[in-house]
Amino acid sequence: MFNKLCIIGVGLIGGSVARAARENNLCTTISAYGREQELDNLQQALALKVVDSYSLDLGEAVADADCVIIATPVGAMPDIFKQLEPYWSDNVLYMDAGSTKGSVVTALSELFSGMPANFVPAHPIAGAEKSGVDASLVDLFEGKRVIFTPCVQTGDNFIQQATRFWQGLGSTVSYMQIEQHDAVLAATSHLPHIMAFALVDLLGRKDEQGDIFKYAAGGFKDFTRIASSDPTMWVDICMANKQHIIPLIEQFCSELDDVKQMLQGSQAQALHNTFTYARNARQRFLDQHNNMTQSIIFTVQPGGHLQGEVRVPGDKSISHRSIMLGSLAEGVTHVTGFLEGDDALATLRAFQAMGVQIEGPVDGKVTIHGVGLDGLQAPKEPIYLGNSGTSMRLLCGLLAGQKFDAVLTGDKSLSGRPMRRVIDPLSKMGAIIESTENGTAPLTIRGQSGALQGIHYDMPIASAQVKSCLLLAGLYAQGETSVTEPAPTRDHTERMLSGFAHPVKQKGNQVTISRLGPLKATDIEVPSDISSAAFFLVGASIAANSDLTLKHVGINPTRTGVINILQLMGANIELLNQCTVGGEPVADIRVRSATLKGIVIPEEFVALAIDEFPVLFVAAACAEGTTILTGAKELRVKESDRIQVMADGLQILGVDAQPTEDGMVIQGGKIGGGTVVSHGDHRIAMSFAMAALRASETIIIDDCANVNTSFPGFVTLTAQLGLNIGSKEA
Ligand code: S3P
Repeated sequence: MFNKLCIIGVGLIGGSVARAARENNLCTTISAYGREQELDNLQQALALKVVDSYSLDLGEAVADADCVIIATPVGAMPDIFKQLEPYWSDNVLYMDAGSTKGSVVTALSELFSGMPANFVPAHPIAGAEKSGVDASLVDLFEGKRVIFTPCVQTGDNFIQQATRFWQGLGSTVSYMQIEQHDAVLAATSHLPHIMAFALVDLLGRKDEQGDIFKYAAGGFKDFTRIASSDPTMWVDICMANKQHIIPLIEQFCSELDDVKQMLQGSQAQALHNTFTYARNARQRFLDQHNNMTQSIIFTVQPGGHLQGEVRVPGDKSISHRSIMLGSLAEGVTHVTGFLEGDDALATLRAFQAMGVQIEGPVDGKVTIHGVGLDGLQAPKEPIYLGNSGTSMRLLCGLLAGQKFDAVLTGDKSLSGRPMRRVIDPLSKMGAIIESTENGTAPLTIRGQSGALQGIHYDMPIASAQVKSCLLLAGLYAQGETSVTEPAPTRDHTERMLSGFAHPVKQKGNQVTISRLGPLKATDIEVPSDISSAAFFLVGASIAANSDLTLKHVGINPTRTGVINILQLMGANIELLNQCTVGGEPVADIRVRSATLKGIVIPEEFVALAIDEFPVLFVAAACAEGTTILTGAKELRVKESDRIQVMADGLQILGVDAQPTEDGMVIQGGKIGGGTVVSHGDHRIAMSFAMAALRASETIIIDDCANVNTSFPGFVTLTAQLGLNIGSKEA
């Protein structure tokens, strides 16, 4: 990109820019400028081959450079700009890398009587507490964000050049207004640094003899790591951004004062609420952030078998409902076997955000202190539900009858999923729900406490989420609410309501609810999820020498379509130790290798196996003959378009898989290898992992982070059972 790159200030950031620019062939030569007192550092930069030359003379350093980056502490920049002015060239791209942007732009504007078009103010969010060229890293900017705060005068061509450069270093470029940047960074970076410095200052003075620090462990180290940062740099930043920092310090002092008063007044509950709110807010932030940045790749070697005994994680549908009904009940509900996956945790956090005290999960145990049907409180912020369709659709019904408004948001996949299927019938009940024009999230639910009216609803599609949503709304409606379904769907809500002493009426394909009084807390044992067991039912069927027992799996007849379909295909599956636990039928399932044959899948099984088709398609690919699925259009609006995404992936693996509007036609045969994409859909990722058991080459699966939504520990568990699987961050 550039012939000569000049770095002014070759410290951690400047040195890392130089290393990464060279590594990524973004320039031919690199020069550096520093002051006399930085001579050692400059010599070190040369010795490490971070730069090709340095000079203590600015004019010499920038001569013929086509890109100049100023990476000094922000306090030194006005002076550097003054020294640079005589050498300024209109064709050169200039950038800084400072943590404050207002001070940089003001200094330049004053000097040049307006911002020069060829200066792009930039801030890489990639610092560390270390400083100097020794600490610089070639991959410091890899996957990190760089914020540009261009001004009206900044030339588009220079912004584009700067964007290409930083992207070339591995960064993602974002754009912000100067004021917004400085306000946000004051809160997320500058204040935390001041707090870390101040705490160590306080404790250090108290602790001259080293008594406290001797016992300081993880928390202290985590909190004060950034107090090892370069003081000069941080004094500069604080001075440059004090108008944003001072009000924040005042707010923080008042927050500390509140905590002090809670302690003085022994207000444990108030303190608990503050801490819980903070923990949830942090988790929400991490969820959203991880979704943006973290990408996991599975690499699965061909062959292997599945043997042994295993208990897969708890049922997702039942876990969601245990939190919802436990929260609405009177009394304390103890849950065991809770699924500690992201989806069920999203529901748990949603109820915490509405004031419910929930402890755990610890080893699948959760304790819910129910607040009663009318005890939920308004959430202080939008409720983020990640990838979880069940959370969003069921919460719509429940929130429609509250005395407060709430906003529901989700990740990219959830924000694209159809919500009119719940909004339309709820509106008929008198609910007020605002969505995007496309009928998708974010959803704003205006609580209509006391104003909901029971309806009878003939569901056009077989959906347990819609049915459950309306049953939950029915708890808040006047009169009866009844739902008729076109085909049986999972009935966990109905069963669990009975467990909470609030039975529904069931007549044929119609279920009816009316508010009977309070829900009574109960204990819930969540069985293993048959949808997670399904990967092993298929895996052990298609892999030679497999013999696997899946312990304590829920075999609710509204969920066992996968067993019926596999048995029709010739699978060797036995149900052992059948019993009923908390109203749900449970069994151990033994599955052994078998020769599968292609079938026409009976449509009556579609709703009963709705989540298992991705892995059933893999079974079909390994079967003798043709398998035909019809009547499964719903698969197109799951976490991904499961018909298209599975057909694409199977074709990459060399399988003859033809998608149709409402299903797929698959010719059984050989599975090759290759790279497939799961499109962030947990069940797609796990299905292709199983395909490797019969593949002839390695299968690489991109975009697998969401496996955590339903099956935390999938890789470790499957590897223990005999799959040659590894995972790494992309
Ligand atoms: C679920 C119902 C099903 C299923 C989903 C979980 C539930 O969705 O696909 O994974 O817990 O109610 P639909 O009801 O939309 O078919």
